[in-house]
Amino acid sequence: MIRKLKHGSVELVIGNIVDQRTDAIVNAANTKLAGGGGVDGAIHRAAGPELKELCLQFPADENGRRCETGHVQVTTAGKLAAKFVIHAVGPFYNEKYAEKAHAQLRQLHVHALQAAIDHNCKSIAFPAISTGAYRFPIADAARIAIASVCSFLDANIGIELVRFVLYKQGQYDTFKLALDDWSAK
Ligand code: APR
Repeated sequence: MIRKLKHGSVELVIGNIVDQRTDAIVNAANTKLAGGGGVDGAIHRAAGPELKELCLQFPADENGRRCETGHVQVTTAGKLAAKFVIHAVGPFYNEKYAEKAHAQLRQLHVHALQAAIDHNCKSIAFPAISTGAYRFPIADAARIAIASVCSFLDANIGIELVRFVLYKQGQYDTFKLALDDWSAK
């Protein structure tokens, strides 16, 4: 499904993030940008070893961190169809610090969209960041991701298409509900 906002559209699809031909795809990365499983593993496998080399060129702090939670780093995309990979570090969900995690997930989506504009991207594809290994409850993650993206597209010119690529039907249904709720406001 696709829904038009003031300055661009939001699309929901079931699929694999690595297959997207958008200008940018967003990776569900970790602070070390050293690769991992899930989305991160799939993107690195499909992009080829060049992607890790590019990631490791970002300076690391004393703990090996190359990107803070809620922030992004941008590389080219190796063998992928996309031009750029926006490596975004979502929060690991802990109920005790839920408000902080909500704010970081919101911030991450805004940073990724801004980075896409800075790299002249007109289209960008997001997976459901933090909802796998980082255990963010899917309904909350969907509500936050949809609200962040829709507010951004209502307020900023530059991105024509934001696609959420959901891995499973249940995740798609949850994102669709969040988008319907947003549109009904
Ligand atoms: N395409 C789209 N969605 C996918 C794909 C794929 N190829 N593979 C997994 N998913 C879905 C999962 O079902 C989940 O809902 O993406 C969502 C995010 O899952 P993760 O990849 O585990 O990302 P996250 O929860 O943000 O955890 C990040 O996991 O792999 C490590 O290095 C990564 O440490 C980081 C952490």
